[in-house]
Amino acid sequence: MKSKLLFLIFDLLASAAAYKATTTRYYDGQEGACGCGSSSGLFSWQVGITSGVYTAAGSQAFFDTAGASWCGAGCGKCYNLTSTGESACSSCGTGGVAGESIIVMITNLCPYNGNQQWCPSVGSTNQYGYSYHFDIMAQTEVFGDNVVVDFEPVACPGQATTDWQSCVCYGQTETDTTPVGITSGGSDFSSSSSSSSSSTKTQSTATTLVSVTTTTATSTGTQTIYGQCGGSGWTGPTACASGSTCKEQNQWYSQCL
Ligand SMILES: *[C@@H]1O[C@H](CO)[C@@H](O)[C@H](O)[C@H]1NC(C)=O
Repeated sequence: MKSKLLFLIFDLLASAAAYKATTTRYYDGQEGACGCGSSSGLFSWQVGITSGVYTAAGSQAFFDTAGASWCGAGCGKCYNLTSTGESACSSCGTGGVAGESIIVMITNLCPYNGNQQWCPSVGSTNQYGYSYHFDIMAQTEVFGDNVVVDFEPVACPGQATTDWQSCVCYGQTETDTTPVGITSGGSDFSSSSSSSSSSTKTQSTATTLVSVTTTTATSTGTQTIYGQCGGSGWTGPTACASGSTCKEQNQWYSQCL
């Protein structure tokens, strides 16, 4: 009875908007870590693909879970960001209008080193308790100042797909499971892999949403790094791939780290 209730709670959480991220904005005129541009600078479309479609530097979990800093597996993937209207703290942004949405395509990496405040390393959180960060390429405010967003993976709109094909990394990206923890339908994100999919479980802590992909889990065998390896109700693998160990995050969730 009790465990049924827990599953119900998981399902309710999974069907809500699943993921949150912090955002900032930048403009450096550079090619970026997905090779979009040339030695003389970025491609002009990086500043705005079409109305409402931007490019962004993603934190490491968006760019490449295995730690690559060039041609990461996350290059060319798109996300729908919806503003919560709030900033991450009172002194780190003024926020904006809640409910506005934009799409961003990952064309660069926001590395942890040098950006500890905002851009977390894989599997950890930034200074404000969020697991994910988008540094949006824009010379003026997009939909607010450093707003916290709800986001979900989406298929890139047509023009973004075409633009991505002009990047050096197109067809040459790493192949790890990126973004970490976020269910994908394959090389791009289809609607069937949305956050309401029953294969995705989402857990809420005070300020962070951690999502767990369970599609690869079987009751025997070894869990991959960053995968779930325990927690109340967990029936999947409890052994971790070599190089990682199972660490309890809370009562509901242990992770191979
Ligand atoms: C983005 O998310 C918003 C809010 O959920 C939704 O209204 C909008 O249709 C989404 N856009 C795309 C292209 O998925």
